[in-house]
Amino acid sequence: MSNSSSLSFDLKPASDLTPDDKEALRILVAAVYPPEVIDTRPVRHVTWCLPQWRLLVWDEKRLVSHIGIVIREAKLDGVLTRIGGIGGVMTSPEVRGQGYATIAIRRAAVFFDENDIAFALLVCRNNLVFFYTHLGWQAFNGTLLVEQPGGTVSFTLNKTMVLPITDKAPQKGSIDLCGLPW
Ligand SMILES: CC(C)(COP(=O)(O)OP(=O)(O)OC[C@H]1O[C@@H](n2cnc3c(N)ncnc32)[C@H](O)[C@@H]1OP(=O)(O)O)[C@@H](O)C(=O)NCCC(=O)NCCS
Repeated sequence: MSNSSSLSFDLKPASDLTPDDKEALRILVAAVYPPEVIDTRPVRHVTWCLPQWRLLVWDEKRLVSHIGIVIREAKLDGVLTRIGGIGGVMTSPEVRGQGYATIAIRRAAVFFDENDIAFALLVCRNNLVFFYTHLGWQAFNGTLLVEQPGGTVSFTLNKTMVLPITDKAPQKGSIDLCGLPW
């Protein structure tokens, strides 16, 4: 971590973002996902859900990292289960490798614990499996069902990873997100 004393965390409902927050987020998204990167992403045609909360990591007045957070009543093998989700994990390209995403993902896990979530779920590219494994996440090798504009589909473009919170995290079976993915 560069200088952790200048770091601050802002975890707030997405609807509470100020105009300055939104502008900082726009700049971060533009730096992480320039058009040439978006054009080559295998998930570019996926319809994602909007996060209900956003975790913003600031270094002084600069937004260095972000996580979108959702809480959803999903179905695990047909049984309604309250799960948490993280998506939109991003760190500004110039400040990567300094532990910002790590600290933000750990903070999100605390939020899930406070919100009585059974387990958390994320989807990521193959090359990030090691990164999340290092943070305690486990591979989910079952079927992930998600809603898309055409109906419910099996999500296979990315790896699915789960984190135990108040209960075990499933490694197999079927998880139906009962909505858009994150
Ligand atoms: C993935 C990402 C959020 C990591 O942010 P970060 O703040 O640099 O992460 P941290 O500093 O906490 O952790 C870095 C660790 O992850 C590893 N890592 C980071 N990005 C990686 C990548 N793209 N591929 C493989 N490993 C990666 C580093 O090797 C490092 O490991 P170490 O701590 O053993 O040295 C950042 O690279 C990013 O914004 N990428 C583009 C957007 C993206 O892919 N988001 C993830 C969607 S699931």
